[in-house]
Amino acid sequence: MVDITPLGELAREIYNCQRCGLYKNTTNAVPGEGNPHAEIMFIGEGPGYNEDRTGRPFCGAAGNFLTQLITSIGLKREDVYITNIVKHRPPGNRDPLPEEIEACKPWLDRQLEIIKPKVIVTLGRYSMARFFPGVTISRIHGQSQKCGEYTCFAMYHPAAALHQGSLRATIEADMLKLPNILEDIRKREQPAPIPIATKPPPQEARQLNLFGF
Ligand code: URA
Repeated sequence: MVDITPLGELAREIYNCQRCGLYKNTTNAVPGEGNPHAEIMFIGEGPGYNEDRTGRPFCGAAGNFLTQLITSIGLKREDVYITNIVKHRPPGNRDPLPEEIEACKPWLDRQLEIIKPKVIVTLGRYSMARFFPGVTISRIHGQSQKCGEYTCFAMYHPAAALHQGSLRATIEADMLKLPNILEDIRKREQPAPIPIATKPPPQEARQLNLFGF
């Protein structure tokens, strides 16, 4: 069945994307997946081998760890939205080039416009650089910062824990900060309560008080 939602329409455009040369060596584009009304949007680097074969983001070993992290805060993958900074796999899993990231930018911009997440979680250096330019991940991971209309939260890429076991606990601890960040945003966005009109005390009571009784 054809998906006629805005994200479905966008995915069709991404499947046909030839804005840069990445599409030439791929099997599938990987637009992203998840809840179109997600409060949290995870943005990784780019599809790898498994993602290219299946057309789904984060479905290999790093993806399994990301799923565990999402579960650790009481959510399911279907509750959040997961995508990447580039939508086609860079050959041999090399890092995406600046011109490829730039060419892919309009897709991510449109995903953000449609989903309007409360928090953008950047996974790894490349998506971090889009929202937190000029910083190092070792300095800002686990911290949130306002980026225009969005709150952004930087995390190490889940694959980093697979290569460097000592980062696993850091990534898990950073993830556990997300529910509070989200709760604070929800509270800030709540409309201010309408003040309840206070009734002046009855005349008699006010007079008694004047005499100190
Ligand atoms: N790594 C990423 O950055 N994205 C994926 O989708 C899979 C692995």
